[in-house]
Amino acid sequence: MIRVLFVCLGNICRSPMAEFIFKDIINKKGLGDKFEIKSAATSYEEIGNDIHYGAKDKLLHKNIPFSKRKATRITSEDYNSYNFIIGMDDSNIRNIKRIVGEDVDNKISKLLDYSDSPRDIADPWYTGNFEITYNDILEGCNCFIKYLEEKKYI
Ligand code: 4NP
Repeated sequence: MIRVLFVCLGNICRSPMAEFIFKDIINKKGLGDKFEIKSAATSYEEIGNDIHYGAKDKLLHKNIPFSKRKATRITSEDYNSYNFIIGMDDSNIRNIKRIVGEDVDNKISKLLDYSDSPRDIADPWYTGNFEITYNDILEGCNCFIKYLEEKKYI
């Protein structure tokens, strides 16, 4: 089982989008039973809240299945439970490390570090642009899958 935790600041925009986009790709590849895929926040701001309506709207229009959910915050125990802990921007990475401690097993990465042009994924909570964020997350998820294939994880 490959356990993947996507992480952003609030867990209502980027990381749930990544969770559902990645699940969709994995399911379409017939690999659904090989993965456990979840998402979490680094902040307490939105704990218990469902996905942001802008993120929902974007997933709906892109035909990505999603379900009602409640935002949760990453815990220090998650570091042992997951194989990959994937943040969306540098600030997420700093905050994740503050919560889980030193990345001794090299599990923490940034989603677009898997792409040919590593960069942050903009927070649509501030930019209002869910299309750019969707495209960046899709690119990151596809590159992450390529990485897993190259490393023979799948
Ligand atoms: P996300 O966006 O990190 O992509 O889920 C945010 C959502 C809410 C807040 C910040 C970022 N907030 O401060 O409430």
